[in-house]
This record gives sequence, structure tokens and C-alpha cells, in this order.
Amino acid sequence: MALAAASCLPVHAQTRPAWPTRDGHAPLVIAHRGASGYLPEHTLAGYELAVRMGADCIEPDLHLTRDGQLVAMHDATLERTTDAATRFAARNGGWRVADFSLEEVRTLAMRPQGSAALSFHGFKPSAAHPLRVPTLEEIILLARRLEAEGARPIGLYPEAKQAGPRLASHLLSVLAAAGYVGSDKVFLQSFDVDTVRNLRRRQQALGLDFRLVLLSGSANRLLGMELAQVASFASGVGVNIRGEGMSRSFIEMAHAAGLTVHGYTFNEARPATALPEYRKFMGWGMDGVFSNYPDLALQARAAEARLR
Ligand code: G3P
Ligand code: CA
Repeated sequence: MALAAASCLPVHAQTRPAWPTRDGHAPLVIAHRGASGYLPEHTLAGYELAVRMGADCIEPDLHLTRDGQLVAMHDATLERTTDAATRFAARNGGWRVADFSLEEVRTLAMRPQGSAALSFHGFKPSAAHPLRVPTLEEIILLARRLEAEGARPIGLYPEAKQAGPRLASHLLSVLAAAGYVGSDKVFLQSFDVDTVRNLRRRQQALGLDFRLVLLSGSANRLLGMELAQVASFASGVGVNIRGEGMSRSFIEMAHAAGLTVHGYTFNEARPATALPEYRKFMGWGMDGVFSNYPDLALQARAAEARLR
């Protein structure tokens, strides 16, 4: 009966290979700091554009303000991506996120970096304040609304940018309060081993089960720690695609140890060079790509899918 059913399939469907990812599904497209090649990083506008383009996940890096609010910001200080240095000139170089209240952070204007601009042709953000530093709660509200509009899950991929238990505790509280309990839709990441271990302990105590990802500047560092050891407290690794040791065989070893591999950062803006880069790593079995240009990552994934 199984043979008869199989013989009804078109020839290409019988022979096409599955994705070489750990679960056989297509690799995730993770919007790195939002669609940060086009709009200011870590803004609701940038996250929304990424979702409208079709990204699977949005990636907020997180810091705590002086009054204990989680805000999306890559750096520990505010002056690179906002006008904090001019608006708060009297602080004379002390523009740490941790020294600002949320009310103060909300007054800052964004400064687009790299190829990003303050607008993107044909796109009108729907959030009330699309171009200011958002809180994690505001990002979640946006994701929930876009999920409802588009009837598809939007993944959240927050990174704890401060090591230690305080940020981890706030992060789990905010997610739990928003109704997340642990699913394919949420990945928690950190470069700090103790922070990932701490997230694991705390989420278990709270009955949560988010996927935990240990970040590393190189594949070799993870090999030095032993992948089986990493797999004892994380479900995946996030690895610099240009770091030492990144290779097809590293991805295969990680999969054999039970780990997924997400690569960062795909930052090539020109399709002619970007698409082959994505396709190389997708062909190696990479399970997800952190991309500043999610539309290009999706184009590459569609091209790879046609081979399968
Ligand atoms: O989290 C993956 C990647 O974003 C790590 O690099 O410095 O952009 O947070 P960074
Ligand atoms: Ca990050």
C-alpha cells in the first residue's frame, strides 16, 4: 500500500532530497536587529518590515534601563544608534543604557547606521512610535498583532546582552506574562555560558521550555568546549559564519550532538554576492541565518527549495 501511494507521486517528489537541516525543515530566516540593512536597527519599524518581507523570527538584543525595563539595543551605550550624545550632552560620555530611565530613552531619536535609512520605499510602519527605542513588551505586542493579521507565527529571538541573573529573570517574566511558555517560536540566546545555564535553571523552575542558544565567535571555541557538553544545557548554537572552524563538517558534528546551528551575520547587500553565500551555508545544513537583509535570505531559501 505504501509503495502504491508512493508511486502516485511525481518523479521529482520521490527523488528530491530533504533539507540537510537538523529537523529536515527549511532553515529559519532571522531578522538580525530587524531588517537592519534597510531601517534603523532595533526599532518597531525595522522589525515590522522584516515580518512583512516574510522573516520567520525577529531578533531583539536586550539591555535593562535604570528603572529595570528591557529595551532593544545592541550596544551597552546609546550614542551610536541614537542622538543621546547631543540630547544628553551634559552627561559627558556616560550614555550607558543602564543609567537612563525608560522615560528618558523614549525621548531619543534613532541614527541609522550603515545602509539603513529612516524610511523604506513603499513601506509605512503601523506602530504608533516606529522609530524609537522599543521595550520588549512593545516588540511582543507588535509580533502578536502581525501574527494575527498574517495568520502565521512570528518567532522571537531575544539576546541577553548583559550577563547575570537579573536580565535573565526579567526576560523570562516578560515572556511568561505575555503568554509564551516555550515553543518553536521563542529562542533565547547569549554569548555567556553561565547566562544560558541560568536561563535553563530558571525556566525549568517556572515550567517554561524555551529553546536556548549559546552564541560563539567561532565554531572552534564550541569544539573546544565539546559539543556534547554544550548540548547538555542548550538546544542550539549561534556561530559567527566568518569565525575559525565554520564548515560543513562542523554543522554535521553539531547536528550529531543534537544541536541546531544558526549563523551570524549575513550582511551582504548585493544579491549577486549575497545569494551564493546564503545558499552555501543552507546547502551545508545550517538551520537558521541571522540576516540584515531578510528579503535576500528568503530569495536564497526559495532558490534552494526549488532544488528539493
Ligand atoms: O545574536 C546573534 C548575533 O546577533 C550576535 O551578534 O553582536 O549582532 O548581537 P550581535
Ligand atoms: Ca544579537
